[in-house]
Amino acid sequence: MRIGVLGTGVVGKAIGGKLVELGHEVCMGSRSAGGEAATAWVAEAGAGANEGTFSDAAGFGELVFNCTPGMHALAALGQAGAENLAGKVVVDVSNSLDFSQGRPPTLAICNTTSVGEELQKAFPDARVVKSLNTMNAGVMVDPGAVPGDHVVFVCGDDEAAKDEVRSLLGEFGWPAERIVDVGGIIGARGTEMWLPLWLELMGSLGTAQFNIALVKA
Ligand SMILES: NC(=O)c1ccc[n+]([C@@H]2O[C@H](COP(=O)([O-])OP(=O)(O)OC[C@H]3O[C@@H](n4cnc5c(N)ncnc54)[C@H](OP(=O)(O)O)[C@@H]3O)[C@@H](O)[C@H]2O)c1
Repeated sequence: MRIGVLGTGVVGKAIGGKLVELGHEVCMGSRSAGGEAATAWVAEAGAGANEGTFSDAAGFGELVFNCTPGMHALAALGQAGAENLAGKVVVDVSNSLDFSQGRPPTLAICNTTSVGEELQKAFPDARVVKSLNTMNAGVMVDPGAVPGDHVVFVCGDDEAAKDEVRSLLGEFGWPAERIVDVGGIIGARGTEMWLPLWLELMGSLGTAQFNIALVKA
C-alpha cells in the first residue's frame, strides 16, 4: 500500500519505518521537502521510503498518518491539502500537548473537543480514525515490547475506515482482541485526555515502555 506519513519526529519515523519493513511504500511529509530529519530517515529506511512536503506525502498516500503536534495538526493537514485527503483514511496519532508554559504541559484542545474531532470537522471528506496516541512510539509498532494484554484504541465515525486501521494495527502486531473500539470520533477526547496521567506515570515508573490493559467483568 502507498502510505503518507505527515511528521518527521519520533512517531513519524517509528511508524514510517515499520510500514517500510512490512513492505509498504511510504512518503514522509514535512513543512519543506529535503529536510535533514526526513532525508536521514529515507537513507535509513531504504527501498520503499521517500520524502517530500506534507502535500507530497498526502497526495502519495492511499492512507495518511498524522504524526504532527496536535496544536499544529490543523495547519499541517491544511498544508497537506484537503484535496489530497478527500476520501482517504487519516490515522490521527497526535496529542495537543502545550509546553509553552513549561512542565507539566497542558492540553491545548480538550474537554469539549479533541484534535481528532477538529480534524474531522475541518476535513469532512477525510475519514479520520484516532489511534495509537495513548502510548510511546516504540510500543505503537512493537506491542510485544510490553508484556501482557495491553490495548490500543480506535475511534472514528467511518466503520470501514476503522476496519482498515485495525488491519494495519494487526500488521504492527496488535492481536484483534486487543484493538478496542471506543466508538465515534468523539471518543478521541478521552484518549487524548489520558496524556496528563501518561506523563506522570512515565515519571513515576521511570520508563515510557508501559501501556493500558483493560479488565472487564
Ligand atoms: N513521542 C511519542 O512517543 C508520542 C506518543 C504518542 C503520541 N505522540 C504524538 O504524536 C505526534 C508526533 O510526535 P513526535 O514527537 O513524533 O513529533 P513532534 O515533534 O511533535 O512533531 C514533529 C513534526 O511536526 C511538524 N511541525 C512542527 N511544528 C509545526 C507547525 N507549526 N506546523 C506544521 N507542522 C509542524 C514538524 O515539521 P518539520 O518536519 O517541517 O519540522 C515535524 O514533521 C504529536 O502530536 C505527539 O503528541 C507522540
